[in-house]
Amino acid sequence: MLCSMADEKHLKTSWMDLVWLLFLVGLALLPPIDEPHKQGTLLAIALLQLFEDRLAAQFPRRGWSYVVLLQILLATLLIDHTGELSINSTYYPIYYLPVFTAALHFEAVGTLLWTALASAAYSSYLYPALQEYELTPDSIARLSQRIMFFFIAAVIINQFATKARRQTARYQRLAEELAASNRQLEKVQADARRSERLAALGQLSAGLAHEIRNPLGVIKGSSEMLNQKLATADPLSAELAGYISSEVNRLSALVSRFLDFARPLHAEPRPHDITAVMDKALKSVSDQWTGGPVRVARTYAGDLPLALIDEGLAAQVFVNLLQNAYEAMGENGGSLQIDLSKAVSNGHRGIQVRVEDSGPGIAPEIREQIFNPFFTTKKTGVGLGLAIVAKIMDEHQGSIRVEPTAAQGTAFVLFFPAASSAIESEVFAS
Ligand SMILES: Nc1ncnc2c1ncn2[C@@H]1O[C@H](COP(=O)(O)OP(=O)(O)O)[C@@H](O)[C@H]1O
Ligand SMILES: [Mg+2]
Repeated sequence: MLCSMADEKHLKTSWMDLVWLLFLVGLALLPPIDEPHKQGTLLAIALLQLFEDRLAAQFPRRGWSYVVLLQILLATLLIDHTGELSINSTYYPIYYLPVFTAALHFEAVGTLLWTALASAAYSSYLYPALQEYELTPDSIARLSQRIMFFFIAAVIINQFATKARRQTARYQRLAEELAASNRQLEKVQADARRSERLAALGQLSAGLAHEIRNPLGVIKGSSEMLNQKLATADPLSAELAGYISSEVNRLSALVSRFLDFARPLHAEPRPHDITAVMDKALKSVSDQWTGGPVRVARTYAGDLPLALIDEGLAAQVFVNLLQNAYEAMGENGGSLQIDLSKAVSNGHRGIQVRVEDSGPGIAPEIREQIFNPFFTTKKTGVGLGLAIVAKIMDEHQGSIRVEPTAAQGTAFVLFFPAASSAIESEVFAS
């Protein structure tokens, strides 16, 4: 029943406060002037008016009920001291105060109930009046008129207030929806930027790698010949030739690896149970792990749809992510949390995969760079793991993002479309 006020009302409060003060001072200056009860009551009404918002905020559920109740009491006090016969007091419109407050802050039923209570408080002065005077049809008519005016004013104001409240709520909802779709748009734009950047980087370095491969082949052949020739020569020359040979091998392995990465993927997505793919990847990574102990917790939702994935590529995604998670936790070990759940992204049904580790986390300033090819912070890292993951996710019309976790650590959140959501699956035709 109770409704919160629009924020902008607070801005107008000080202005309205002034109006109220002028009004009450005006009343105080009108006769009867030397009636301390009247002036005291007006002062109390002024204070209540100034602090009603704060008072109402003190009691989140009942606040405005208390304010209206106090206003009724004060109004009743005021007319008791402003007329020989209270029921005839010319100050009776002071009851509009609680009536309006109720109309502004309650729904229709509440407003009517409070107006009825205010009317009853006013009518209660009939009792002392009847001790001395007869009840005439004329005075009944006058009292009824006044009460009817209370009600009609309450209903009209309540209608306006309710309309304004609904409007405000609607605008608030709209603004929230707008903000949400803005955030969504920003995310999509960031994703698109990343894909573009990775594609450009990939192209550039693939060209470079091609150019490097040929001279590298020549160096490799030559160094092998040199090696054979120098096998019988002095040990220093043999050692140096050995270095050339082994380093060239390392370089050419790197180039091959990179060209593998730069080659188009040829994904062949089919409906697959993604939990089986994840379990296999987890087993292969944990079997090869030689660092500290890692506690693995898996939460797989029971109602997961089949995912539209290329099994081999999806497995590679999971292996790369899990490998990174294990490596992040390193010698100390830690805990790994894997969640698979149903999700909707951009209007597509699908599966959300969340891989969270308790490692040291990723500094915010490198959070986007980690997807770049050759970005690594590891001594022996190559920096292709996440670049490959991002590429595969693009190929699957999925998405990946990295999130900081509640404690330290890292969470990668992936989305794979479900088999039945991807009606537009021609995009996958390879
Ligand atoms: N789970 C993780 N926790 C902390 N840092 C991570 C995690 N996963 C990836 N990274 C950071 O991202 C970088 C790039 O990862 P990746 O592309 O797999 O290359 P590499 O593992 O060869 O370094 C890593 O060097 C590391 O700094
Ligand atoms: Mg890696």
